[in-house]
Amino acid sequence: MLVTGAAKRVGRAIAKSLAAADYQVLIHYNGSRLEAEKTAEECGGAELFQADLGSVDAIRGLFQEVRERVGRLDAFVANAARFTKFNVLDITEQDWDFIHDVNLKATFFCCQQAAKLILDTAGKGRIVTISSGGGIRPWPEHVHYCAAKAGVIHMTRAMAVALAPQISVNSVAPGVIPFGEENDPPVAALIARTPAGRAGLGSEIGEAVLSFLQASRFTTGQVLSVDGGLALR
Ligand SMILES: NC(=O)c1ccc[n+]([C@@H]2O[C@H](COP(=O)([O-])OP(=O)(O)OC[C@H]3O[C@@H](n4cnc5c(N)ncnc54)[C@H](OP(=O)(O)O)[C@@H]3O)[C@@H](O)[C@H]2O)c1
Repeated sequence: MLVTGAAKRVGRAIAKSLAAADYQVLIHYNGSRLEAEKTAEECGGAELFQADLGSVDAIRGLFQEVRERVGRLDAFVANAARFTKFNVLDITEQDWDFIHDVNLKATFFCCQQAAKLILDTAGKGRIVTISSGGGIRPWPEHVHYCAAKAGVIHMTRAMAVALAPQISVNSVAPGVIPFGEENDPPVAALIARTPAGRAGLGSEIGEAVLSFLQASRFTTGQVLSVDGGLALR
């Protein structure tokens, strides 16, 4: 079970939830080596994999390395992403590509490579993408991010059909899951609008990922909002 961007924050919480449920977790990271080592230790000595997912060649290399070092993949969690905030009138081509290269393009190529490895080595398995409430509801200061995450959601559905019945493909769409940003005005405003009356925890995203991994593969192409009801508003 490989989790991308698992060194810290939500990815770390997902990795820890899965390790606690006795999955063999493989930790991917890009720049956060020390945090990744800590997460790996917290996951019972998990294997570490480094790759910049901004490059499709590096993505192919990552999955080749998993094939060579581990020999089998049953499940994949596409968590790694970027997040930036700009006025829509100021977004440049570079800003757009910065977000789309990792949040949508890399998510697609990671899922493609994961599917090949799962089919070759396990024959069947599960993929979970981490999308966002921003892919469901319009977040006006994150138009480029919303577009990429909406793409992840629809890509998840299309892949679910393309990869059935061997591989289920589902998505978890987090609401506000802060790690110290609770008091930033835009974050605080989103928390205030959340019907649950609080922000979410990384462990709650981990639980949702686990529920897709433990579900029968008859559950596929679904998007589970874990957001305290924020997307309903
Ligand atoms: N936190 C929230 O409130 C929230 C809300 C909605 C959706 N989400 C989604 O939930 C997921 C996790 O959120 P988060 O806040 O924990 O994310 P994050 O901290 O912004 O990023 C997670 C990881 O993505 C990795 N990453 C970024 N660019 C990469 C690249 N070019 N190559 C490889 N890895 C790269 C980073 O790894 P390194 O640090 O190792 O470089 C980073 O630690 C994301 O998909 C995010 O969009 C989060």
